Amino acid sequence: MSIALVTTIAELRARTSEKLREVEASGGSKSLGLVPTMGALHHGHATLARRAVAENSVVVASVFVNPLQFGDAQDLARYPRTTDADLALLDEAGVDFMFAPSVEEMYPDGEPSIRVTAGTMGEIHEGASRPGHFDGALTVVSKLLHVALPNEGLAAPGGRPAYRAYFGQKDAQQLTLVRRMVADLNFPVEIVPVSIVRDPDGLATSSRNRFLSEQERTAALVLSRALGLLASRAQAHEPLDIASAEALVRSAPGVELDYLEVVDPQTLAPRAENCQDTPFTGEAIALIAAKVGSVRLIDNMRLG
Ligand code: PAF
Repeated sequence: MSIALVTTIAELRARTSEKLREVEASGGSKSLGLVPTMGALHHGHATLARRAVAENSVVVASVFVNPLQFGDAQDLARYPRTTDADLALLDEAGVDFMFAPSVEEMYPDGEPSIRVTAGTMGEIHEGASRPGHFDGALTVVSKLLHVALPNEGLAAPGGRPAYRAYFGQKDAQQLTLVRRMVADLNFPVEIVPVSIVRDPDGLATSSRNRFLSEQERTAALVLSRALGLLASRAQAHEPLDIASAEALVRSAPGVELDYLEVVDPQTLAPRAENCQDTPFTGEAIALIAAKVGSVRLIDNMRLG
């Protein structure tokens, strides 16, 4: 195994700096890739990690179950922790360092009193069902982006930052908010979106899928089916008839629809013209969230 497990910020900075110096000494160009995760890694994460490895000379994947982004203590407690398997998956993908800090290392003074707020964009869709979730997620992403910065500067050839962070498009709202934060607050990092990875039957990969029973997993396929229905109507410039896609989801056993919305890809605001009954034009994203049994799942698909 060539990956190193690092648990403190000081060690992470020292080790990445050392590795970057080695890259420079051997004539390579220095760049750092960060893959923030909460662990319980699956092949969707492996895709993120492999992309980061292909595009950077040094790669750090963080594994930290961030208490700030869980509204419900039970949800936090039952979030799967699979450190050994995570380390093996990241090693296989070619990641240099797995940074797995303790809660005390990340929040030495307890929960931070100063936080990043996601604003109104964090109050819709997922944010409406999980109040405070995006403030917690942005706060830890902001910390991780700073924590992973090595002790010495990174070259920025052509003015582009040689620091990149990788986020999955499955969490479309999180990705949009992280991009907004980085732009609004001038973080010196490039945010790289990575496409959703689906199982062969269409289910989007998620750390929560492991909680689904066989029957629930079959029922959960209705999420990607409903999105696919909207995408094919959009492709054909037909009316989306969102109501019929909602009805399809509601008809699946044990599936409780939270929302199915067609939104603007940049702002995630519901489209003023949602093309329920009129031919679809332009571009949009369809976002869906539903509870399948006791497991909350999200998915999305680009339309147009
Ligand atoms: O997407 C996740 O796994 C988390 O929200 C993140 C970005 C690692 C922050 O805790």
